[in-house]
Amino acid sequence: EGEKAVDISKLRQRTGLITLDPGFVNTGSCKSDITFMNGEKGILRYRGIPIEELAEHSSFRETAFLLIRGILPTQKQINRFSVLLNDHSLVHEDMRDFYGNFPRASHPMGILSSMVSALRSFYPYLEDVEEEIDITVTRLLSKVRTMAAMSYKMSRGHRVVYPRPDLSYCANFLNMMFDSPVKPYEIDEEIVRALDVFWILHADHEQNCSTSAVRIVGSAMVNLYSTISAGIAALWGPLHGGANQAVIGMLSEILKEGTTVKQIVERAKDKNNPFRMFGFGHRVYKTYDPRAKIMKKMCDIVLSRLKLSDPLLDIAKELEEVALKDDYFIEHNLYPNVDFYSGIVLRAIGIPTKMFTVMFAIGRLPGWIAQWKESIDDPSSKISRPRQIYIGPRQTKYVPIEERE
Ligand code: ACO
Repeated sequence: EGEKAVDISKLRQRTGLITLDPGFVNTGSCKSDITFMNGEKGILRYRGIPIEELAEHSSFRETAFLLIRGILPTQKQINRFSVLLNDHSLVHEDMRDFYGNFPRASHPMGILSSMVSALRSFYPYLEDVEEEIDITVTRLLSKVRTMAAMSYKMSRGHRVVYPRPDLSYCANFLNMMFDSPVKPYEIDEEIVRALDVFWILHADHEQNCSTSAVRIVGSAMVNLYSTISAGIAALWGPLHGGANQAVIGMLSEILKEGTTVKQIVERAKDKNNPFRMFGFGHRVYKTYDPRAKIMKKMCDIVLSRLKLSDPLLDIAKELEEVALKDDYFIEHNLYPNVDFYSGIVLRAIGIPTKMFTVMFAIGRLPGWIAQWKESIDDPSSKISRPRQIYIGPRQTKYVPIEERE
């Protein structure tokens, strides 16, 4: 009902009413003018602009500006933004020692979440609040990308590659990931473009789990680094951003262990089995995820550009075909989501599976920042503090330890 919606907080103050909505399936947590979604029709727009148009015409850097500032930048503004991103792209040298101390098998999402939180200690508060916010935002956008590539290089025991001011945001990332003294990385503008689109598709998705985590943690007025670190932790889960890695595991099982597509579909339907068809289903989309449509096309574009074939893509297409004809999937409105095809694009580019969710996190960063900024700029916002329905004993006595059974 939009503006006419009942203000539950006022009603609660008057009546003591508590609403119970596990998983917040039907609860709005804020008003927002950042991202519009229509789950029935499969529509996604950032600041009113359809995702399809952004994927075709925009860059990730420009989309980040759009989400955070609310408007498309002028040429002068985007030039200035690029200069700032370059200025803040280096990571404090002392942070390298941290990387060296994580066990080799550590998951990159755990490392990223810890390192982003650690940034606060390396870059203390600035006096001027506006400047503090501006610089923190730019630092995060630029350094998280550097840190992700750095973590990959160090995990392999390779020399870290520094960001270059002459390269674009995406080209810089690819260069930091793959350049080496023995084999210089050759930048292919079509692959750079694919990465741009990949990150644009991930840039925001209204009040999903990690964004809600960001808004809730941020509502306590903790610094932005720790707030984003919470978002990264939430994104790591296999029901959220971690699904892109889980999809590859599922497709590889079919390829390597001989499990059939039909068996995977049957396993996903079995209510006695906790297994879910990864990359399928969505809380909001009850139709094909518009991002998945673009991602599916990108698989073919990237593979053909790199003259590669990936048996996992054929398996994914077959799995989709079988699932979409299955009554269970039809009745439950289960369609591919963004994670179903994204791993195939990342694999082709050379990103290791373990880093897939980190790639999602870099893409989601502008959305988290925009949502955090909107919440702290809103004069009516409050610290997030949900209630509960208490179901324990009303009152019991303290029993001394010697009398306990
Ligand atoms: N495979 C099999 N059954 C599923 C799936 C799936 N992937 N997704 C939902 N269902 C079924 C549930 O078992 C449930 O069935 P029931 O009503 O008969 O008990 C019904 O569909 C509704 O599912 P919920 O879990 O209540 O839906 P919810 O909105 O809470 O979950 C979610 C959405 C987490 C995305 C879910 O679809 C899922 O687990 N998908 C697989 C993981 C995945 O791909 N996550 C990425 C999501 S996109 C993103 O985060 C970027």
